[in-house]
Amino acid sequence: MNLLDKFHNWRRKQRWDRQYKTGRWESLKNEIEAIRYYKIIEFILRFSPKNPSILDIGCGDGLLTERMKPEDYSYFLGLDFSKESIKLASNKNLPKAEFLAADAVKFKPKQKFDIIIFNEAFYYIHETEKQNVLDRMLANLTEEGIIITSIYREGHGCWEYFDEDSRLEKLDFITVTTDEVFRYWKIGVYKKLI
Ligand SMILES: C[S@@+](CC[C@H](N)C(=O)[O-])C[C@H]1O[C@@H](n2cnc3c(N)ncnc32)[C@H](O)[C@@H]1O
Repeated sequence: MNLLDKFHNWRRKQRWDRQYKTGRWESLKNEIEAIRYYKIIEFILRFSPKNPSILDIGCGDGLLTERMKPEDYSYFLGLDFSKESIKLASNKNLPKAEFLAADAVKFKPKQKFDIIIFNEAFYYIHETEKQNVLDRMLANLTEEGIIITSIYREGHGCWEYFDEDSRLEKLDFITVTTDEVFRYWKIGVYKKLI
């Protein structure tokens, strides 16, 4: 990122902080959104190694962790560049879970993970950094590991990174629909080709 991009990235971070402080993202707790989280959990249970370690990039206030059963993971690390969202997630004291305020663009995991999730987050990463972030995450995925990505509606600036990467094999892909025509999500599951 050049200096101007860094400035815009910083401004975006401030905006997310403000929005979490004022409850803008409380809407993600609505029942209509729950279906997306449960589909991700279903994919986790279906495709991941048993007792997986999970890294959730752009985890927000930890809603996905909250919706999971602690017996379904060995360790959960949620990462978000909004300090406010991380405060909210940490205050939930979820079992076997830690939450870290860090920018996905710079974050270097200290361990490998069985599952890496971009849940409504990949398209927020700065365009010039998306490939770097994906490369770093792939390097930190265990051999049997999977990547799960969820994006609202069409997700421009997202699927091409996963679908055109010859290191990845698509295991499943679905569109989760609701009663509202314009509220739908696409969710893909990928594994790394060794
Ligand atoms: C729509 S919210 C989704 C939150 C959560 N994944 C969920 O679905 O409940 C997008 C999240 O991505 C985070 N985010 C955006 N860019 C990021 C970056 N470069 N590094 C880390 N987090 C980022 C935002 O702070 C925000 O919490």
